[in-house]
Amino acid sequence: MLPEVNAHKSLGPSMNIYFSKHQKSISNAQTVYLDNNATTFMAPEVSKVYQFQFGNPSSLHTIGRKAFSELSKARSLIKQTLNADGNIIFTSGATESNTLAIKGILEAQPQKKHLITTAVEHLSIIKNFNDLAKRGYEISYIPISSDGVIDLDDLSNTIRSDTALVSVMHANNETGVVFPIADIVRIVKNKGVYIHVDAAQTFGKIPIDLSQIPIDLMSISAHKLHGPKGVGGLFIKNGISISPIIYGGNQEMGIRAGTENVPGAVGFGIASNLAFRNIDENYTYMKNLRDMLEKNIKKLYPHVDIIGFSQNRLPSTSCIAFKDIDGRVLLQLLDKYGIFASAGSACCSHLDKTSHVLDGMGIDPNTARSVVRFSLSRFTTSSEIQHVISTLSRILLRYGNALKPNSKPDKECSACNAIKSLEAPNE
Ligand SMILES: Cc1ncc(COP(=O)(O)O)c(C=O)c1O
Repeated sequence: MLPEVNAHKSLGPSMNIYFSKHQKSISNAQTVYLDNNATTFMAPEVSKVYQFQFGNPSSLHTIGRKAFSELSKARSLIKQTLNADGNIIFTSGATESNTLAIKGILEAQPQKKHLITTAVEHLSIIKNFNDLAKRGYEISYIPISSDGVIDLDDLSNTIRSDTALVSVMHANNETGVVFPIADIVRIVKNKGVYIHVDAAQTFGKIPIDLSQIPIDLMSISAHKLHGPKGVGGLFIKNGISISPIIYGGNQEMGIRAGTENVPGAVGFGIASNLAFRNIDENYTYMKNLRDMLEKNIKKLYPHVDIIGFSQNRLPSTSCIAFKDIDGRVLLQLLDKYGIFASAGSACCSHLDKTSHVLDGMGIDPNTARSVVRFSLSRFTTSSEIQHVISTLSRILLRYGNALKPNSKPDKECSACNAIKSLEAPNE
């Protein structure tokens, strides 16, 4: 029997321990983690069980059999959340699940050489397709509008008799824009083509009933929903056959060789169960906090553009272009004040590159460089959001001019120089 989760309290104990260890050098100020699309901390219920799973599920003795049984329990907990007519193969994360889905399904239909995706997918999709293009596959990228919307007519018209697979994400990790997955699946399945969905960002945040939406293959990841890192899953609908990409033992129904990450899978099962228990309530809770953040940021700095604002978005994600501000400088200042968010654009080490997602949406590079992404979780609190708003207000007042983008880009990172020249905050 799983313990009930209390989703609306402050950060779990594991996060507080982390902050008390790492924040000393910054100040005694409150810290707020708003980078939950990158990763989440393990829910206390998950970390509690994580350390106790060590048996090899392939061993025939009692400890091995116990590990096998724990693994099976975790698999069914995840399957239950999907109402799925299929199976879950445990992997090392959504990156591997995406690779297994794409490469595994192609082997079954070697005569088909055309693939469809979008330009705003995660790099684990884009780079797999780049690799396949080098091996003779033709790739079509469906256009995405500047507010993140997929062109469904274009999708329908692009599918051909030699299309082997359509792979699209459920929601974008940078903008949070959710694709109309039921419509996409209907279009693709009506043409008799396989569909793979990268649901790394939506699993546990948006309910999805696979008995109503007949997705063939779907990638999920534990560390995005307060589970452990290094474990994910690939849902495979019954009747779909895919080839392995890793060869070895007969684990995971012969589809993914290698001793299973039992603690990871058990943690993933619990994390999924917790996330889905109050999924509708958590959705509304996060959306209200996100809306409060956006409303107040607009008041502080009216020159913002919230990417995908009028679209269906993840309740947890706010991708904000602070026009005429260098997003990287703002991010580093927020970091100095103990607020951890991320950029839609590339970090300082790749100064000239903007995010491929924003590029793919046709967003101009200046706007892309002004983007900051705040991503919440069900553990984010209203007082944390208020703290972010008041800190942003202080930063904008105090450092307004220094936040302007450097008009003379040089080889060194202009954002880093600006940050170095700023006083460390002492509030
Ligand atoms: C949409 C999307 N797909 C795939 C991944 C890769 O997930 P993992 O870190 O589990 O490999 C991520 C992680 O950032 C993601 O956001």
